[in-house]
Amino acid sequence: MTPIVPSFPAARLRRMRQTPALRAMMRENTVTVDDLIWPVFVMAGRDDETPVASMPGVVRRTVDRVAKAAKEAQALGIPAICLFPYTGMESRTEDCAEAWSPDNLTNQAIRAIKDAAPEIAVMTDIALDPYNINGHDGFVEDGVIVNDRTVEALVKMALAQADAGADILGPSDMMDGRIGAIRTALESDGHQDVTILSYTAKYASAFYGPFRDAVGASAALKGDKNTYQMNPANSDEAMRLVQRDLAEGADMVMVKPGMPYLDICRRVKIEFGVPTFAYQVSGEYAMIQAGAQNGWIDGDKVMMESMMAFKRAGCDGVLTYFAPAVARLLNG
Ligand code: PBG
Repeated sequence: MTPIVPSFPAARLRRMRQTPALRAMMRENTVTVDDLIWPVFVMAGRDDETPVASMPGVVRRTVDRVAKAAKEAQALGIPAICLFPYTGMESRTEDCAEAWSPDNLTNQAIRAIKDAAPEIAVMTDIALDPYNINGHDGFVEDGVIVNDRTVEALVKMALAQADAGADILGPSDMMDGRIGAIRTALESDGHQDVTILSYTAKYASAFYGPFRDAVGASAALKGDKNTYQMNPANSDEAMRLVQRDLAEGADMVMVKPGMPYLDICRRVKIEFGVPTFAYQVSGEYAMIQAGAQNGWIDGDKVMMESMMAFKRAGCDGVLTYFAPAVARLLNG
């Protein structure tokens, strides 16, 4: 829709930009703490944290420290935390059995958060990469990432997370049929109220670099993820994936990365009108922090502008490592 605008001088569009009051009246979008999902890295040990070198300001935390961070997030009004385990080579096997162990790092952290900050929604990541010997999200047989056997393992992983108390499951593996398989298993296992936020349009992106350092996957990963993650050249394919995931029982969908893929966010929201989230990934965070640390950009302002861009594109929320910083700024 193109509005009918009289021409100059009847239309002086600067008239409405003159004062803070007029600009406030003109504001179309708003960022609130309700828009934030905070990704947090969990590591083994007690009462400890280590910095992630490529993500200034981000740390890996032991389970007790994750619980403490969840309390702080709850006090800031952040509605959800998403958990990612840091795993060394010793937790990685061919069969990935640690992925569905009731006591793996993620499941311990879910229970600890539920204890410490019951109002926070706990989201998880479902994919085999933290526990796979070769760093892939699925099983590898003769050099091929196999779909259906992987989905069976993902279902076990999902049920273990649901048993531990997860509120939101986030399958990030990009295997076909995993949403339907997980939804069916949740239904028959008494977990019909557990929600699924599918990593629906997840692109094979170089912006994930710092994350793979953060979770210890860089050393493990053999090859690339191009046979399961999406080609950055595609947009129609993302719409097919959204349609498919919704039909299989996803409650919410995600586009990932975020800022370079706002066109996809926009299309998803307009074409489907469903809860749509973006993941402002590790590389996006690292770029903003690097620019800010060098004094080349104003970090806080760019951070807030990026949040507004997600809202303007139509996102209902954003997974962002900036979540606590954004919340602090918004809360004044
Ligand atoms: C793995 C996973 C990745 C991210 C979230 N889950 C990396 C990958 O697919 O290799 C990336 C997050 C980020 O870069 O911040 N299943």
